Formats: sequence, structure tokens, C-alpha cells
Amino acid sequence: MPKKTPEELRSHRWYGVDDLRSFGHRSRAAQMGYARSEYLGRPVIAIINTWSEINPCHFHFRERAEAVKRGVWQAGGFPVEMPAISLSEPFQKPTTMMYRNLLAMETEELLRSYPADGAVLLGGCDKTTPALLMGATSMNLPTIFVPAGPMLNGAWRGKTLGSGSDSWKYWAELRAGTITEKAWNEIEDGIARSPGHCMTMGTASTLTSVAEVLGFTLPGAASIPAADANHPRMASASGRRIVEMVWEDLKPRDFLSAESFDNAVTTAMAVGGSTNVIIHVLAMAGRAGIDLDLARFDAISRTTPMIANLRPSGAYLMEDFYYAGGLRALLKQLGDRLALDCRTVNGLTLGENIADAEIFDADVIRTPETALSAEGGLAVLKGSLAPDGAVIKPTAADPKLLVHRGPAVVFDDYNDMAARIDRDDLAVTADSVLVLRNAGPLGGPGMPEWGMLPIPRKLLKEGVRDMVRISDARMSGTSYGTCVLHVAPESFIGGPLALVRTGDVVSLDVPNRRIDLEVSEDELARRRAAWTQPPPRFQRGYGVLLSRHIAQADKGCDFDFLEGTAPTAEPEIH
Ligand code: FES
Repeated sequence: MPKKTPEELRSHRWYGVDDLRSFGHRSRAAQMGYARSEYLGRPVIAIINTWSEINPCHFHFRERAEAVKRGVWQAGGFPVEMPAISLSEPFQKPTTMMYRNLLAMETEELLRSYPADGAVLLGGCDKTTPALLMGATSMNLPTIFVPAGPMLNGAWRGKTLGSGSDSWKYWAELRAGTITEKAWNEIEDGIARSPGHCMTMGTASTLTSVAEVLGFTLPGAASIPAADANHPRMASASGRRIVEMVWEDLKPRDFLSAESFDNAVTTAMAVGGSTNVIIHVLAMAGRAGIDLDLARFDAISRTTPMIANLRPSGAYLMEDFYYAGGLRALLKQLGDRLALDCRTVNGLTLGENIADAEIFDADVIRTPETALSAEGGLAVLKGSLAPDGAVIKPTAADPKLLVHRGPAVVFDDYNDMAARIDRDDLAVTADSVLVLRNAGPLGGPGMPEWGMLPIPRKLLKEGVRDMVRISDARMSGTSYGTCVLHVAPESFIGGPLALVRTGDVVSLDVPNRRIDLEVSEDELARRRAAWTQPPPRFQRGYGVLLSRHIAQADKGCDFDFLEGTAPTAEPEIH
């Protein structure tokens, strides 16, 4: 039963009252060619569109926005497309992560300051999903998420290519001299064949899956390839549904709960998802007022089998996953590891939405017995090198390196690393531990995806393809290797990573969740006393805001003034 009357719509205050301001709003709607009957008394649906000509992952969103509008009109709503900053992972420097909170703020403020009764969010490229969901959760209007969908499988000389993963792989082969420039150029033309986000189980696919399991999408939406005709049908269905949600007054914080966030973490572990998901889910939970910490990720990881056989940890890609039954089938396989009574945007529970799901390829979506790994894809480490935590993706690492001691080779920042990593006189062996610092939330700035440090060229030529690498950076969800990431506190603010010197012994023990620097406390105290903080990265602009307010990685990197559930003040309508 509808809970709202037309007079109770938020937009009524803009359009429906009888005063000078409403005259202005209605006359300006008329200026755009709309008759009163087209919008008056109807739910106004803001379509927050992150389309841009600089974002290949969202290149189809102009058309998808039209499909959403079609659905909104059909259900009796009034769609209004609102462009928002497009965080384009392949192009934006130094990293889109710097701007996640900016898009979150923009989403919240667009919804707050305009006459929106509900929102359809169009996103998918890495940071866009958490940013849109964070902003919409804070605003807490009825919201539905339309994921961009993965691009089609890459193809080259009869081989299937995966976003990111195969770039790194064949780049290493090119540097080692085992493939030609011609082959490398062919790979460039074959690795990204359609609109859509990266089609490995990288950050984008993990986060759209998280959005679905949290209840933000229609069932099955996250797995549909962008180029599939089911994708615009899902978009128009989302447009129809959001209008109903406005009348029902079904808002994000009505269905987000500690249980739904546990479901999100469980799913991320089961798909072997990106390490980045930890930061984003922490931030999203913070916006919903849900307590979540790194320890919860590790606890769930230890008991969740990794049942999706998807790259970079497994063999297949998102298109294969869709044909195998997609996320609904995987969630059905997880069964009562999930809280199935959590509600979702279609008004049904997660359990009801997956009740009839089937697995069509048992090699792609495994059982707990045939899982790729008995535990989830991510582990949280602590120790003298990371007192507040660090993360690793053991399933993407060489198993031989998961317990390792070796001498550090330290790079002070990215430029230092880039200048020295391939030099023949770099004192490094396969047992060395590569350390990169000043790559965290403040030091990077924005925590760039530099955490998969390249293997030194001279070792590549000897056949080395993995080494232990440690940083306060993130790494792409499509990356792989024994990379310890998100070290907190970061080196830029004097975390222990700032004190490591070349030659110090570092020990990694993933089974026992330890990362330690084998240097005495006395010596560390001497080094700490001599340490000075690098100068501020920014003198003006958004960077100053970021520097003053961003949280460390173990807290999700949100801005302190955006966390929590304090109500967003409604604008006065004058
Ligand atoms: Fe957009 Fe990977 S570049 S999702």
C-alpha cells in the first residue's frame, strides 16, 4: 500500500504549493516543454548519471539513462537526469580514489538541493559505485542502483584477455623479451571490446556485486554484461521500480543493516574480490551507521570458501560468470552463510530473490567442496609494521611467499621506485622485500594503485614473476602477486613504514596474519626521533580539504565530516 500522498512528496514543496517560488519552478519546467500534468503530483526521479566521454566504462550510460527514463515515465514518475563527476579509472590522475568522496558529496548535495523524491544511480567504474551509494545513503531518499555491467571478454590470437590482469602479465612478458611489440599492440586492440567496466573480478565487479547483495539493485543486475540486451531492460525495470519505491517510502537505511553488510563481506570473499572493497565497504557502512571493522573482514574471510572461479584469482571472466548463472546463483550456493531475510529494493528479501537461481557451469561457480580456496580471498594482517592493519589477497599470491623473511629494498616514493626499479645495479634478489612508502591516503595522495610494484627487470629476465611487496598504497582489483597493501598508519604521518631502511629484515606470515619489521624498539625509537614529516601535498583547492579530513585506510578513507547518520538538513524553499 502506498505510504505517501502526492502532497507528501518532497518535490511538492518545489512544484505544488501556491507561491512565487513555485510559480518560478513551474514556469521554468514549462520553459523546458513540460506541461503541469507531466510532473505535478508525480515522483520526481533524479537519475544521477556519471556518463562522460573520458569514461569508457560508462560510455553506454547516455542510452541507459534513456531506458531508465522510459521506465520512470511508464510508472507515472517524472525523470530528471543530473550529470555528476565521472571518476574514470583509466584516465584520472593521480587516482580516482582522491575523488571518491567528492562524488559522494556531489550525489548527496544534488539530491538534497533539487526536488528529488527518489534516485537512480548510474555507476560501475571502480570508485563510482561506493561514491554514489555513500552519498545516497547519507541523503536516504528511495534509491536504486543501475550497475554499468562488465564489458565483453577480451580476445587475442585465440586467447581470452582479462582487464588489467593481462595488461600486467603481458607487460612483464614484453619487458622480459618473451613477446614482440607487434603482439603487444594487438593486445592493446583486443583487451577492451565493448562499453562496460573491467570484466575481471576486480574492484568494479566486486563493488557492483556488493551493491546487489546489499539490496541496492534489482536481482541479477550486477552480472549482466553492458552490451547485453538484458542490460537496458534491467535499466527500464529499475526506472519503473523506483517510482513504486517512492510511494512505498522504501529508503536505503530501511534495508541496510549489520547483517546486510556481513552479507556484502561474505560475498566479496566468496568471489575472491578486490582488496579495495575493504576500504569502500568500511566507508559505506559508516554512512549507514553500521559498526564494521577490519577484524570482521578477516573473521568472515576465514570461514567463507572462495567459490567463484574468476580472474585474477581464478580462470574465467564476468561474461562467463553471467552465463554460469551470475551472482544470484553464487548467492544461492552460499545459502545460509548469508542472512537471507535482508530486504532489497524490489521489496522482497535476498532469499526470495535468489530462490530459483541455478548454476549452469559448475566450473565457474563452485561448491564449498570444490572451492578454489577453503577461505576467502582477502586477509587482514597486523604487526609491528602495520599496527592498525594491512591487507593482502592470498589467493592472488604465490603460495610459497605467504610465509617469508627477507631484506627490505626501500623506495621513498613512486618516482624513486620508477627511477631505480629496473636499474642493473639495484641490489635486489628474489628473496628481497620491495617496500614503497608515501603512497597512502595523504602521502600518495589519495592512495593510488601502486601496490603491485613491478618486479625488477633483471629478476624478470631470471624468470621471477612474484615477490613480497609492501606499501601503504592500494592495488588494482585486477592485479595479483604477494602484495601487502593499505598499511596503516601510513608512512606520510609517521607510521612504522616510514622507519624501514634498506637491508632491514621484514617477515610476512599470512597464516598467522602477521607483518613485522625485525628491528629493535630502541633502534626504531631513534629513527622515529629523527623522522620529519614530508611537506603538505596541497596549498589550495580540493586537495586541502582532503588533507584535513580524510581518514586512514583501516577506517575507510571517508571525510570525518561526512561519516555517520546525522540528518542532512533540508533546504528552505524561498
Ligand atoms: Fe573502469 Fe576498470 S577502468 S572499471
